[in-house]
Amino acid sequence: MREQDELHWWQRDAIYQIYPRSFSDSNGDGIGDLRGIVDRLDYLAGADSSLGVGAIWISPFYPSPMADFGYDVVDYTDVDPIFGTLDDFDLLVREAHARGLRVIVDWVPNHSSDEHPWFRESRSSRHNPRRDWYVWRDPARGGGPPNNWRSAFEAVGPAWTFDGATGQYYLNSFTPQQPDLNWENPDVEAAMHEVLRFWLRRGVDGFRIDVVHKLAKDPELRDNQPGLRHDEDWQPTIHDRLRGIRRVVDEFEDRMLVGEVYLRDLRRVVEYINTGDQLDLAHNFVFLFLPWDAQAMRASVEDFEQLAEAAAWPAWFLANHDHPRVASRFADGTPGSGERRARLAAMLICTLRGTPFIYQGEELGLPDAEVPPEAVVDVDGRDPERAPIPWERPSDAGPGAGFSTGAPWLPLPTGAERLAVGAQLGDPGSTLQLVRRILDLRRSEPALQGGSQRRVDSATQVFCFTRESEDGHFVVALNFAGERVRLDPRGAVVRRARVELSTYLTRAPGEEVELGALVIEADEGLILRAM
Ligand code: NOJ
Ligand code: CA
Repeated sequence: MREQDELHWWQRDAIYQIYPRSFSDSNGDGIGDLRGIVDRLDYLAGADSSLGVGAIWISPFYPSPMADFGYDVVDYTDVDPIFGTLDDFDLLVREAHARGLRVIVDWVPNHSSDEHPWFRESRSSRHNPRRDWYVWRDPARGGGPPNNWRSAFEAVGPAWTFDGATGQYYLNSFTPQQPDLNWENPDVEAAMHEVLRFWLRRGVDGFRIDVVHKLAKDPELRDNQPGLRHDEDWQPTIHDRLRGIRRVVDEFEDRMLVGEVYLRDLRRVVEYINTGDQLDLAHNFVFLFLPWDAQAMRASVEDFEQLAEAAAWPAWFLANHDHPRVASRFADGTPGSGERRARLAAMLICTLRGTPFIYQGEELGLPDAEVPPEAVVDVDGRDPERAPIPWERPSDAGPGAGFSTGAPWLPLPTGAERLAVGAQLGDPGSTLQLVRRILDLRRSEPALQGGSQRRVDSATQVFCFTRESEDGHFVVALNFAGERVRLDPRGAVVRRARVELSTYLTRAPGEEVELGALVIEADEGLILRAM
């Protein structure tokens, strides 16, 4: 176990994900931008009322035709005019760093836009020197796509697009506007490494690597078989490629890599972090997909702890820009349950041993937006969770809710009037205030950062564990049931404790409880200090 002062910056505090289109619009065009982020930095760190996160991860802001809202990059080393300029980016890094906030950018190495100059050249002729920068193949014998690989987007279908001009198919693991780069080609690898150096020199503290498991595929492009995929996580190549990326990042001091390792098998996920010379963190999608169930969550956390090497560090998240929000996904139909569960989820990911990732708006308990058919813009149904952040009550700030003075590019989430940042800052019992206090406690208590974690057997609906270091000893008890439950702890656990925080924020701070007699409210989470 690392001592507290030896923890890396990316282990200590929460990391906040910004989806820039929907965060804050500085110029009234209805789309969030980099200046908008700068304007809101005090909300995140450095001021008295800040949320208190340690870093931001910003989803792509590079020049893009926006077929996949920025995950289709036309120029890896610039800023799309809709988001601002490189000067704005430099300002953002300076202002973030001045507040002690680290900056992580999204790197999209698996595919570019089909309008990227590399792809334009590549598709121009079979003999173009850049032909081999992408994955081109002849049609299958008898016609049709070269193999059975499918796009990750259901609506797209086969992962191959026929290019009539040169009579071959190109591979697109996402939309046809996102041709896959050919990582078998060392020139591609070198060019993408240069992209990392460009942003590292500009002062970024790390990268979130988009679909990192797709950077190595079967070079023979054989068909996927049931239970055996050839289109991702190709062994051992994927790990060699990651080591190459790590070496580039290690040319600079104290930088971090978190990967979108979108694999539903923890044994494969931990391979990306266990060796210490690949990723620092891997987003855990096994955890994201769990049902709202204390036992399932506990088992998954324990699986991770068992499979991961002692030095490997978990990353916990339950929401991002690709998945329905917690308050919508886990609501059980009773009034307020979505918000109560968003609060419980926040307490869970911020108290487990590991780094919490908070998707913008989760700290507000936002639900998904209702997006009428005529307003749908995403190919894969992800508009609802990408709704703009309501900063002010619409009744005060107009229909843009302080996100924009213009018409927002997507409808605002339902309940903006009550859930807006401005409304929640003024309410000591709000979800925002709760998340602030959880993060505050985490920052001031070494046990909640680097402390050891042990399970406490208890009522089946409750996920209960301890966090302990020489500086403190906490019991976290999270009730996943929509009804009151007696904790009923078993085995060696402290008998008495003091309430530090309840997700309800109604219990008197410092209230003493007898763990054996403790009754937890429906969907309530508690952080207790052992006595
Ligand atoms: C994962 C990103 O999070 C998602 O938004 C995107 O569509 C795909 N990768 C393709 O880049
Ligand atoms: Ca704007």
